[in-house]
Amino acid sequence: MSLRALRRARFHSICAAAVLVSAGLVSPRAGLAQESDYFTKKLAPSVGTPEHAVDKMLEAAQLKPGETLYDLGCGDGRILVKAAKKYKVKAVGIEISRDLAEQAAEDVRKKGLEDQVKVIHGNFLKTDLSAANVVTLYLAPTANDALRPNLERELKPNTRVVSYDYPIDGWSPLNTWKMSGHLGDVHVIYLYRVPDSIKK
Ligand SMILES: C[S@@+](CC[C@H](N)C(=O)[O-])C[C@H]1O[C@@H](n2cnc3c(N)ncnc32)[C@H](O)[C@@H]1O
Repeated sequence: MSLRALRRARFHSICAAAVLVSAGLVSPRAGLAQESDYFTKKLAPSVGTPEHAVDKMLEAAQLKPGETLYDLGCGDGRILVKAAKKYKVKAVGIEISRDLAEQAAEDVRKKGLEDQVKVIHGNFLKTDLSAANVVTLYLAPTANDALRPNLERELKPNTRVVSYDYPIDGWSPLNTWKMSGHLGDVHVIYLYRVPDSIKK
């Protein structure tokens, strides 16, 4: 098995276990809890999107000045900061890890972007997404599955959803782009638009 395949398998197994626990199907004590906060509300591990992929995701989103981007699971806030600086949009990040949310907010302060960027320490499954024009995701299939009903219920027409590496099952992408990773591995960016991408 390649290094990439191993990383993917680990990413998937962490996310699958987290979703089972969130759904109350598995106890966090049931031998799974090496990384305990994955097993409450955390639906994806903390791995930042590579900068060249962030650039492509933002370009794919076709952001216009004055629009609002939501990054669900914003990590260190790299997508928020780049979107605000380059595209003059508002950006909102939701992050379950207190440390990462504080790190992202600190970076926003340092860069003087507080008027444009807001970082919320919270659970994206419990956040109202209706103000978004663009949603960015780097989660996992299981997390995308958990999020999909919220996206379908709350996003307004013409909202774009851009996902790195993992598609939203049941939706049809408008476009996809393949990107090379640092190890020569291949990553995919998926662009969706509501409501056209939602299969009936
Ligand atoms: C793979 S990282 C992506 C980080 C960032 N979006 C980026 O592209 O660089 C996924 C992030 O989602 C966060 N996360 C996982 N479950 C979450 C939840 N239910 N609510 C908010 N954030 C969550 C993790 O803590 C992690 O920082």
